[in-house]
Amino acid sequence: MLKKILIQPDYILAWENENFKLVSFGEIIIEGDEITYLGPRREHNRKKFSKTIKGDLVMPGFVNTHTHAAMTLFRGYADDMPLLEWLGEKIWPAEAKLKKDDIYWGSMLAICEMIKGGTTCFADMYFHMEEVARACTEAGIRASLAQGLIGTDKLKGSISLKKNENLVRNWHKAGEGRITVMLGPHAPYTCPPEFLQKIMKTAEKLEVPIHIHLAETRKEIEESLQTYGKTPIKFVDDLGLFEHNILAAHCVHLSREEIDILAEKKVAIAHNPGSNLKLGSGIAPLADLLEKELLVSLGTDGAASNNNLDMVEEMRLASLLPKGLKENATIAPAEIALKLATINGPKALFLDETVGPLKKGAKADLIVVQLKKPHLFPLHDVVAHLVYSAAASDVDLVMVNGKILMEKRELLTVDEEKILFETQKRATKLLAGLN
Ligand code: NI
Repeated sequence: MLKKILIQPDYILAWENENFKLVSFGEIIIEGDEITYLGPRREHNRKKFSKTIKGDLVMPGFVNTHTHAAMTLFRGYADDMPLLEWLGEKIWPAEAKLKKDDIYWGSMLAICEMIKGGTTCFADMYFHMEEVARACTEAGIRASLAQGLIGTDKLKGSISLKKNENLVRNWHKAGEGRITVMLGPHAPYTCPPEFLQKIMKTAEKLEVPIHIHLAETRKEIEESLQTYGKTPIKFVDDLGLFEHNILAAHCVHLSREEIDILAEKKVAIAHNPGSNLKLGSGIAPLADLLEKELLVSLGTDGAASNNNLDMVEEMRLASLLPKGLKENATIAPAEIALKLATINGPKALFLDETVGPLKKGAKADLIVVQLKKPHLFPLHDVVAHLVYSAAASDVDLVMVNGKILMEKRELLTVDEEKILFETQKRATKLLAGLN
């Protein structure tokens, strides 16, 4: 018999008719990995349930659609530098020293931080991705993984594409279906056209989506114009990239025409306001993207450029930045910002439609948030509080696929103390001798 869990919180942020619906004093029943009931509270024989959970608010988990998990090892190592210098002088030399085990422990640190902040699913692009898959399987989090592909060296490019193919073969739909795989061409400026074409063919053959960095900095646009006579968006569009399922990270520097192309080709966007601000890359035109009804989700990017994986902070930035930029307080209202951080994520990762919303038949990926705190009092509007007042540390319980990963802020599937010890030891060793 399937293990049944009963949740009876004060509020449930359910999903109905493509909108959030706040249900007061309702209940959720979970059987296996699925929500089998969400509605008014009823009388029950408690013996029928293996567990009963109370709490203030149950809502969908956050979905971080763009990060490089193991970069937690470089948190605080290289700050206050522009992207291309930051990569060339600091990050790439440090990454060259990373071993498989470092990737495992760095990813575990990221997963710890993400679960503690209410993230139930993330999209990762890095290398030694089987280690990330292993960490996700053990921790119980949901993830969409891609091998970062750089094709400036032809041989190295083919080897990494092979690794990405193997990742698809060995891990796609593994871990009770929690792990999915994409192909991960790093960016148009690190992937020549022939290499991108090869990647597209592979994506078609394996039937997986593509995760790529696009139009992140002004310098990228200028260099693309010099090399190809086209902006990065036009360059990849002309190559046929947008005929595939694409998750495009950043999309900071876009013309009106390019926004129309992205909308028409249904490109999913991972908006990373924190990382874009910190690297001085710019501010993505979120107001225009929303106006054109693009599918926008939120990512933190890696912890070396953010410097945390806090989706509450990201959600607040996403809502506040366009208001200030356009001098218009009505842009990206709380409900939209919350949608970007939750419901839109699984769609941008091309996941099964049962992942994301809280409703009957959906996967049980949810979080319990404590609302009885001074910074969340008095309570007028739950959604406004989540976006404008809450902190990631208000998350009390995290469930993914029906399994509890954190309860009363204690991580149940991973050893937090050991992860902190291992990552400090490894980061110190890795960065010794580097500038
Ligand atoms: Ni990135």
